[in-house]
Amino acid sequence: MSPEIKPDFLISPEGLRVDGRRPDEMRPIELKVGVLKQADGSASIRQGKTYIIAGVYGPRELHPRHLTLNDRAYLRVEYRMATFSVPDRKRPAPSRREKEISMVIANALKPALFLEEFPKAVVDVFIQVIQADGGTRCAAINAASLALADAGIPMKSLIPSVAVGKADGQLIVDLGDEEDKYGQGDVPMAIIPNTEELTLLQQDGSFTREELQEAMQMGINACKYLHELQKEALRRAYVKKTPDEEDDEDDEDDDFDDDLETDLGEAELMEDE
Ligand code: CDP
Repeated sequence: MSPEIKPDFLISPEGLRVDGRRPDEMRPIELKVGVLKQADGSASIRQGKTYIIAGVYGPRELHPRHLTLNDRAYLRVEYRMATFSVPDRKRPAPSRREKEISMVIANALKPALFLEEFPKAVVDVFIQVIQADGGTRCAAINAASLALADAGIPMKSLIPSVAVGKADGQLIVDLGDEEDKYGQGDVPMAIIPNTEELTLLQQDGSFTREELQEAMQMGINACKYLHELQKEALRRAYVKKTPDEEDDEDDEDDDFDDDLETDLGEAELMEDE
């Protein structure tokens, strides 16, 4: 792996960030619902280069039984990074960091869920980071919340999440990996959008009271934008398509099949040679 080089500056003289974004600009985001056919609910998120899939199973019987909660379902969250998700091979055994992030994500999601409707059961949320480029705990919350909705778990709201921070003295939103590593601070947050109730707030680095207030307002705005994207992703998955849209989708499937045939054909030809 090539050693990572610390950038000379995180904010250019023109006021732009290392990837050309403005301070309050998010990375490009793509949310998809129902990406795993076998899970009860699932969703994926691409946020810049960060790519995560979340799968939900349950409510179902809980094993081991000693974890049973008599008055509500147990929300079991497993956040894991694939060995190939970072340039340095990630050791496959669950790390302390992964266990801590799993707990943080569960705590961020729980306030929106009506877990008391399923006493003694478990709701399993499995999160796999396929590619990590900063902000994985927040992106994981965005996807996991959608996967829980896709699984039909009763909830009062989707939970959007984003990290805000500081680089070269400038407040920024949705930190990438370099900003996370070389910046002056990082504040991951998650909210219930209607009430602006915080369900996650962590802080790394130091901020003045005014900076923190301003950063949190940037985070709330970003979360509200993310919430719109989450609702849109759910609508795309559930609102019945018009016949025209269905035809378009069939055409796309046909294209895919054609490509597959061509590829296989070529592969066989090479083998014959
Ligand atoms: O991902 P997030 O910012 O929520 O969590 P973090 O613990 O602050 O990690 C920041 C970033 O460091 C991750 O997103 C990864 O890109 C990177 N990282 C890594 O390169 N190798 C690890 N074993 C863990 C994290």
